[in-house]
Amino acid sequence: MDELVIVGAGGLGREVFGIVDAVNRAAGSRRRWRVLGFVDDHPTEENLKLVQRLTAPFLGGTRWLTGRSTDTYLILAVGDPRLRRATERTLRPYGLPAASLIHPYADISPDCVFGEGLIAFGGARVTTNVVLGRHVHLNQNCAVGHDSVLGDHVSVNPLAAVSGHCRLDDGVLVGTTAAVLQRLTVGGGATVGAGACVVRDVPPGAVVKGVPAR
Ligand SMILES: CC(C)(COP(=O)(O)OP(=O)(O)OC[C@H]1O[C@@H](n2cnc3c(N)ncnc32)[C@H](O)[C@@H]1OP(=O)(O)O)[C@@H](O)C(=O)NCCC(=O)NCCS
Repeated sequence: MDELVIVGAGGLGREVFGIVDAVNRAAGSRRRWRVLGFVDDHPTEENLKLVQRLTAPFLGGTRWLTGRSTDTYLILAVGDPRLRRATERTLRPYGLPAASLIHPYADISPDCVFGEGLIAFGGARVTTNVVLGRHVHLNQNCAVGHDSVLGDHVSVNPLAAVSGHCRLDDGVLVGTTAAVLQRLTVGGGATVGAGACVVRDVPPGAVVKGVPAR
């Protein structure tokens, strides 16, 4: 079993703990994880209480990682793409490898190429010839269509659909139940609001919402 530390003790971190559990219980899992616990530099009292209900402890701030051997893997359970990128930078000096977690009920095409730190929740579907950057989060029941390219730190929230031949640049967040139509580009750091339907390219850093998204 490989050792894993979950970075982020919020709701997403606790959900990720559930993914680890599902991965460990799945028949034929190639890799199983022992969760050492959660680290978080700014945990809320409420989250600390909720973590206590799980079978992995709260370990402290990220400085807890000091001196860990490179056999310890990290998973960045930070939902906001910008914060995730910043957290990754904070963690870089520790030199620890990033895990990728794919829920047994996620359906990721075998020809999908993905970077370290992928989190694919149950029901996430990725079809053929898709490229995913580092620390991409594919939440429950989202879909990413054929030939799409997602940059680093992209989040696709629950039930969102990214159509074929799309490009989502680094740090894009696609809100819950939103749709991005085929062959569109969403520029780096842009946010697609929950429920939006994107029908034309979105410039970097923009926030778009509604149907059609503006
Ligand atoms: C679009 C979004 C980024 C806007 O955030 P914001 O700038 O903080 O917006 P506010 O909450 O201040 O709302 C501003 C206005 O936009 C409206 N609005 C907010 N989100 C909207 C959405 N998704 N679609 C349509 N209108 C929306 C608000 O009603 C408000 O309208 P008003 O000015 O007429 O009162 C955000 O609401 C959103 O949808 N984020 C995605 C969240 C998500 O996926 N959550 C799931 C987590 S798993």
